Amino acid sequence: MIYQNIDLDQIDLNCPVPEEEPERQYYYMALARSLVREKSRELGRPLYACTQTFGCQMNARDSEKLEGILEAIGYEKTESEKADFVIYNTCTVRENANLRVYGRLGQLGKYKKKNPHMIIALCGCMMQEPQVVEKLKKSYRFINLIFGTHNLYRFAEYVARALTEDSMIIDIWKDTDQIVENLPVDRKYSFKSGVNIMFGCNNFCSYCIVPYVRGRERSRKPEEILQEIRRLVSDGVVEVMLLGQNVNSYGKNLEQPVSFAKLLLEVEKTEGLKRIRFMTSHPKDLSEELIEVMAKSKKVCRHLHLPLQSGSSRILKRMNRRYTKEQYLELVERIRKAMPDISLTTDIIVGFPGETEEDFQETLDVVRRVRFDSAFTFQYSRRTGTPAAAMDDQIPPEVVKDRFDRLLEEVQKIAKEVCSRDVHTVQEVLVESINEQDASLVTGRMSNNTLVHFPGDSSLIGTLQKVYLTECKGFYYMGTPVATEEK
Ligand code: SAH
Ligand code: SF4
Ligand code: F3S
Repeated sequence: MIYQNIDLDQIDLNCPVPEEEPERQYYYMALARSLVREKSRELGRPLYACTQTFGCQMNARDSEKLEGILEAIGYEKTESEKADFVIYNTCTVRENANLRVYGRLGQLGKYKKKNPHMIIALCGCMMQEPQVVEKLKKSYRFINLIFGTHNLYRFAEYVARALTEDSMIIDIWKDTDQIVENLPVDRKYSFKSGVNIMFGCNNFCSYCIVPYVRGRERSRKPEEILQEIRRLVSDGVVEVMLLGQNVNSYGKNLEQPVSFAKLLLEVEKTEGLKRIRFMTSHPKDLSEELIEVMAKSKKVCRHLHLPLQSGSSRILKRMNRRYTKEQYLELVERIRKAMPDISLTTDIIVGFPGETEEDFQETLDVVRRVRFDSAFTFQYSRRTGTPAAAMDDQIPPEVVKDRFDRLLEEVQKIAKEVCSRDVHTVQEVLVESINEQDASLVTGRMSNNTLVHFPGDSSLIGTLQKVYLTECKGFYYMGTPVATEEK
């Protein structure tokens, strides 16, 4: 296994453990690798590892890092949880995310009874909550390893320990200012990839647990980001998604501050890179400079995810979002003026403490005025430790559910109308896969993220194709290929 020009099998395990990162982790990868090889010889078969991911794009990217390390250690990847190593990368943004994890852990415990050498690991945002770890310690004794969001880079070290120690290993850090670069990554797609540009969040929206479980905002240096993107492109990637909880505040705390718009300009220069996406934008920090850069860019996709959360200025204030309904609408107007063909998507929460029917009507009003291409709608979930959880005017669940249903209906009705606007035009589509229902079709995405299905085969995966959109089927298009671009 050669990684970053280092052959893991050549590392001398009798040498002292390196103090520096990432060398220290390479050492532990080599150590775990020798342990896995031994076990595999004993069993006469390969060892399998399964990674399950909950939550957002940030977690999905973290899971690619976990899988990269598991691969370096010598595990074979499997989708089945009846494996030798199972890790859950958890999310805690809403209560039902937590409930799903507990539900599935019960099942894992049963698998482990049949396969006692199985290692069960948990990491991610849920683990940063002390009451969660307490519960796991008490009621889920079969778990081998628990770590959090700040020390994921030490995964190899923890695996090496879990392979040799019987007791439950728990290591949770409160925060970190460290960013460890150059660890292995196993990408899910060959042609597109997420790229972290920053970690953590400083916004403290009053309902949100993320700042508590992901820590303070830390930006990666532009050179590190650009180098990673160049490496990805040389490895076949044509589309990158720049990831951060609030990309619009990227670079503010760097030694040499850089704006997100400037970073985009640099990323755009990467030869061979065809498309750039990013997530998420906070409306309060979306600059005029960014709108200009996007409008001029050939590579930045025509899509902006701009979470609204509520249409009521009164509720927005209580949410600590730091913009008003009017400011949001005015921002949308400026964006649309610069890019009339842009697709806008959003996140909305209903049932925030103190939300009245009038407040809810304000949200519906914004939805009707902006006409989002799609919206993720959520019922407010009370997160222990956040300011909103302590507010005394919590909304009864049946009221929340009723507003949620009405909002969803409105959002879907509008989305259907909006989505059909490009029918009978030619659009560039990045082909992602063979169609799941019909193997004579391929499925890809337009610049504005809408799905298109059209005739083709697997040789097209990862290429950009010009496609004529023949028909809109609600939220996606059917099309026919027009001409092939170079592969
Ligand atoms: N950083 C991103 C969002 C991260 S969480 C942003 O600022 O937009 C993704 C979405 O989950 C949020 O946009 C919000 O709509 C939703 N969410 C967060 N906390 C929630 C809670 N306590 N209850 C319900 N939805 C919540
Ligand atoms: Fe949560 Fe707000 Fe930060 Fe988004 S910006 S992660 S909603 S605190
Ligand atoms: Fe969930 Fe953590 Fe993302 S709480 S939404 S996985 S940052």
